[in-house]
Parts: sequence; C-alpha cells; structure tokens
Amino acid sequence: MDGVTVIDHPLVQHKLTLMRKKETSTASFRRLLREISTLLCYEVTRDLDLTTTRIETPMREMDAPILEGKKLVFASILRAGNGLLEGMLDLVPAARVAHIGMYRDHDTLQPVEYYFKAPEDLANRLIIVVDPMLATANSATAAMEKLKERGAKNIRFLCLLAAPEGIQRFRAAHPDIPVFTASIDEGLNEKGYIMPGLGDAGDRMYGTK
Ligand code: URA
Repeated sequence: MDGVTVIDHPLVQHKLTLMRKKETSTASFRRLLREISTLLCYEVTRDLDLTTTRIETPMREMDAPILEGKKLVFASILRAGNGLLEGMLDLVPAARVAHIGMYRDHDTLQPVEYYFKAPEDLANRLIIVVDPMLATANSATAAMEKLKERGAKNIRFLCLLAAPEGIQRFRAAHPDIPVFTASIDEGLNEKGYIMPGLGDAGDRMYGTK
C-alpha cells in the first residue's frame, strides 16, 4: 500500500503476538509494548539524515556521523500513545515531546480534543506521532490537522496495529504523512475495534476496564 510501511521484523511480530493474547497480564503487556516501541522507533528513524562532527577519540581526530537538524518531536495521542512513547524515548532521549489529548466519544466514535501541548517550532522538526491503534482514524486525522495548524510540515505516523479502513481514511485526509505499522489487521467491528486486534490498548496497558 502506497505510503504505508509494515514493520515485519521477526522480533516485532513475535512480541506483537504475545501482546495480542488475551491472557497476557498488564505487566507483561506494558513491558512488551516498551520493548516493541524501541524496535518500531528504530525502523521509523532509519532514513534520518546524518551530518558529521569533528571529534577526538583516544587515538586521533575524526569526522564522525551525528543526526542532522533539530531535535525530533514525538507526539503522543493520549492516553494509549504514552505506551509507545516510553520505549521511543529510551532510544532517542533528547527528543522533544508533544501531548495531544483526544478521546473517542463511545457513541459517535468522533474525536474530542481536551489537551494540546507541543514545542513552539514545529515547522523545522520531524514529528513522529504515536498511537498504538489506527482504527477509524478519526483521532489520528484530527491530531494531524491540529499539528499542521501549528506549523508542522514533516510528520510520520507510527502505530502498532492498523485497520485497512483506518489507513484508507488517514491517507485520503493526509497523503503527505507516511504510516508505519507492525500489522494491518482484517478490519473494524461495529464498535470501531480492530479485528482480531488486541482489544483496548489503553485498558490493556493500564489495567483499566
Ligand atoms: N482503540 C483500541 O484501543 N483498540 C481498538 O481495537 C481500536 C481502537
């Protein structure tokens, strides 16, 4: 699918299977999510531009590679996005963080924004938006609009699972934003849940119901 990368690394797929299992405990689910998010982060950043800096090793001077440009922004769609955020910050500790509070109204399935806090200069940074589940894409699409209103120009969207309907809607609304996911599942059920999916990601990572 154009603009969509499925991260098919064997470790990602193995951990995802463990996360899907209904008997996986909250503690294991959270640990697996943290582990898998570092691997997803590795893939979503694999083409970042490098420049060089002059350093001195204990042996001699050299021009060594470092990331080019301003610090990345990780934007978490609350609350489930925070589960992906932690592992990504393990890998890129200097990243800036944006929080976008969106919840799905259970009846209309429409996103309601209740919080937005992001670094000022979004226009000059790569922004990686994280939310484990791309289901109806309503929240994700609204979050991208908000980021673009605030000047964001270079955005990637990273999730764990995606429904084909969600990808289609997301890409139709934001063809400029590439999507990275560990799996494209079968589709949505009548309540907007991904099938076979893994259930409610937020409930599973925080032990709520
Ligand atoms: N959000 C979830 O947590 N799970 C789904 O299946 C869909 C949206």
